[in-house]
Amino acid sequence: MRISYTELESKVRTMIKEKRFQHSLGVVSVSKMLAERYGLSPDDAAYIGIYHDAYRYSCNDETPSYCQSHGIEVFPEEIADPMLLHGALAAIRFPEDAEGDVPDYFRIAVRHHTLGHKDMGKYGAVLYIADYMEPGRKHLDDADRQRILSCERLEDMIITIMDAQNEYFRREGIKSAAVSEELYDYIKSGGML
Ligand SMILES: [Fe+2]
Ligand SMILES: [Fe+2]
Repeated sequence: MRISYTELESKVRTMIKEKRFQHSLGVVSVSKMLAERYGLSPDDAAYIGIYHDAYRYSCNDETPSYCQSHGIEVFPEEIADPMLLHGALAAIRFPEDAEGDVPDYFRIAVRHHTLGHKDMGKYGAVLYIADYMEPGRKHLDDADRQRILSCERLEDMIITIMDAQNEYFRREGIKSAAVSEELYDYIKSGGML
């Protein structure tokens, strides 16, 4: 057994700033909508969504080795910028905070929500998409949201998002993470999540 969604939501509210909490509620609502559309569990998607950023303000220089000591593969970009590991921290702490077992796919989804990963699964895809496009995000408009939602599959939505991100990265001179490029190439070559 684990605590209810409502109990987890109350707990997360004490762990992060109000703005981040409101973002997390937005992620929950988009996640539930996507889960319904693709025959997944809206309850599971909500549980994952409310928790995904619980450790957003908890990363420091020790975090990469802490994650490695818990058996998590840490990518070079995460060593360079440990904040990127907040999803990995959440994956480690999920059972403790939920006060009971959580399925592996919950932990895998939160682990990979920042950079994406070809093994992040359907719930990971839902979280990745919801995190990018929830209503509180100001970097995209209704037309951008429509473009994402008009895609047939979750995988197509991820490509639409990554194309926009890569365009932004190009403008800003940012190099995308190897693990993100691997996800992109995987989907482009027909891989499914
Ligand atoms: Fe995050
Ligand atoms: Fe987020």
